[in-house]
Amino acid sequence: EASHSVTRAGAQVLVASNRGPVTYSLGDDGTLDAKRGGGGLVSGLSAIGDDADALWVCSALGEGDREAVRRGVGEPGVRMLDIDAAVHADAYNGVANSVLWFVHHMLYQTPLEPAFGPEFRAQWASYEAYNRAFAEALAESAGPGAAVLVQDYHLALVPGMLRELRADLRIGHFSHTPWAPVDYFRMLPDDIAERLLRGMLGADRLGFLTGRWADAFTACCVAVLGGTSGTRIGVHGLGADADFLRERSRRADVEERLAALREQIGGDGTRKVVVRVDRTELSKNIVRGLHAYRLLLDERPEWRERVVHVAFAYPSRQDLAVYRDYTAEVSRVASAINSAYGTDSWMPVILHVKDDFARSLAAYRLADVALVNPIRDGMNLVAKEVPVVSDEGCALVLSREAGAFEELGDDALVVNPYDVSGTAQALHTALTMPSAERAERTKRLAASATSLPPSQWFLDQLQALTAP
Ligand code: F6P
Repeated sequence: EASHSVTRAGAQVLVASNRGPVTYSLGDDGTLDAKRGGGGLVSGLSAIGDDADALWVCSALGEGDREAVRRGVGEPGVRMLDIDAAVHADAYNGVANSVLWFVHHMLYQTPLEPAFGPEFRAQWASYEAYNRAFAEALAESAGPGAAVLVQDYHLALVPGMLRELRADLRIGHFSHTPWAPVDYFRMLPDDIAERLLRGMLGADRLGFLTGRWADAFTACCVAVLGGTSGTRIGVHGLGADADFLRERSRRADVEERLAALREQIGGDGTRKVVVRVDRTELSKNIVRGLHAYRLLLDERPEWRERVVHVAFAYPSRQDLAVYRDYTAEVSRVASAINSAYGTDSWMPVILHVKDDFARSLAAYRLADVALVNPIRDGMNLVAKEVPVVSDEGCALVLSREAGAFEELGDDALVVNPYDVSGTAQALHTALTMPSAERAERTKRLAASATSLPPSQWFLDQLQALTAP
């Protein structure tokens, strides 16, 4: 265990996010094990180099993280905040993931529509306290005139709070989610809607993944506040990291999983494979995807024994009952398909729920069809990663509600995520696409998907924020 000073005073570039680049697990013998994460921000931040005076401020998320903070264990360039566990739970589970996530993705359904009463008000107080803790830590760690890039809906109030503490800073905020249309956004109590927007507008510059989300945000500001009070708004469509993915997907652990998956699929390599890889997340629309696949088997019996649906649905936000129920529903529907159609020599759905990045890459490599059908999604990087990694070309069935649709729509088979019949039809079209056409489309998809690699995505934002 290395011990470092985890508060870098005078940092010139700061990133703030709920989930940081490293997480600690606490072993039974008291040892701390660090696990480093991937993703766009990690590779983005690495682009500014190790020497840069950069600091990532994030939250301690579990007992391991909290213990690491207590012992003063940490990574250089990372400051983990040990915010009271109950405050964090209210802010993260209560406000961010049960309310803001649902509003931005338009996920509320009767009878789950919100009733914003005293319980919500108490959680909101925690959300404010949580945001304040970040603002104070950033104010303490930032050097004069530093650039601060705040991430996502968890920290929407930070720009305004930080501005009050440190008028000298350049403050940016980036939304990784969609933004709701005005009528839906106004489901929030008026004072909360106003505070969220004003909090974000405390930034010098706001970033979104697509023009559609940026326009929706602007429309909300106009409707609720009368305008955006001069805050600059930019669009930065995060792309896939081609160099990393191509190298990573050819390593031995991926080859091993490829062989194991082929074995599980069976049929001596003659079966077509429909792949999906998601967090088990309501917005990803996994259950309707399974229903569409079932419909395909039902209406087009010629596909029985000739296709397998490889579905990876990794655990997410299991503190919330609605996510636990959804996880159970995914398993139930997958099993029902296997009971109804499976034979001794053919399992129609292979469902894996244990997170395994190497196995995801193996599935990307062998997919004939990728199914990406979210109800709404800020971007969706799976849609961008599959064409880059694919061995022989892969047809992409893509929801028009994914941010990635703006860049990939021309070469994907586009679906309305609620239309199960339409999705079944798109799966059939994808499965029967001639291989030359599939290869051509995959090439174009990969080119669009990698046009803004994470390093450039990050540097563009930094540059736009610090430009005079
Ligand atoms: O899309 C927003 C986001 O914060 C992503 O950056 C990330 O993939 C996801 O949500 C992670 O959620 P959580 O941190 O709750 O697991």
